[in-house]
Amino acid sequence: MSSSIFTDVDQYIHELFIPEDEALNKTMDSISETGIPSISVSYTQGKLLFLLAKMSKPKRILEIGTLAGFSTIWLARALPAGGVLVSLELEQQHADIALKNIANAGLADKVQILVGPAGDSLDQMISGKTEPFDFIFIDADKPPYAEYFRQSLKLSKSGTVIVADNVVREGRILDKATTDEDAAGIARFNKLISQTPEVDASILQTVGEKLHDGIAIAIVK
Ligand code: SAH
Ligand code: DHB
Ligand code: MG
Repeated sequence: MSSSIFTDVDQYIHELFIPEDEALNKTMDSISETGIPSISVSYTQGKLLFLLAKMSKPKRILEIGTLAGFSTIWLARALPAGGVLVSLELEQQHADIALKNIANAGLADKVQILVGPAGDSLDQMISGKTEPFDFIFIDADKPPYAEYFRQSLKLSKSGTVIVADNVVREGRILDKATTDEDAAGIARFNKLISQTPEVDASILQTVGEKLHDGIAIAIVK
């Protein structure tokens, strides 16, 4: 990746605020070693997620899209003793890799991964009247983000914070005629959260190691 002022400042923030971390480094190594997609949040985005989660004083966190567990580890570290994180992942291979990384981070007792299509797992939790979550992170496949948001609302209560990754995609969400299904799905999600009266919401643009992107932040009224 070419260096720019944005990646240089991202590195500066990383060095200032994120100490060397064996569990996170090993998780990143597991991605390159196994050849699964290298699309985790960055270290600085992980720290931001951790802070946002901690602000919601969560006892229960839901994550949609586990991959190798990099964001899972950051989020689970925001839980108190006895807290729970449920993460939804389609691929058994990703879940297996993530479980090893999560155990290595000392978080196995807090984290449960449900393997299968997230939409089905969400429906099962909704019909099973699962206790609502305090913090929800949406980061799986992009076309059904709006559906994931609607389902997340049914697993929320007043004060639940919902954060979604990748909602800017270098501005591709601006192109109304796009044939990019990811960008179209995200634009639909962004419009939905802006028009959902049950939440206050906005988008934070981000730059750095992960290029120009953004996270949506919503709180249930
Ligand atoms: N949150 C992770 C990155 C997740 S990448 C991190 O930042 O560390 C997106 C993940 O969503 C991938 O592991 C992919 O397998 C998974 N995924 C894709 N489609 C899915 C679906 N329909 N249901 C659940 N997970 C899905
Ligand atoms: C990409 C990045 C992500 O954070 C993600 O969740 C999916 C895809 C990407 O860079 O392609
Ligand atoms: Mg993402």
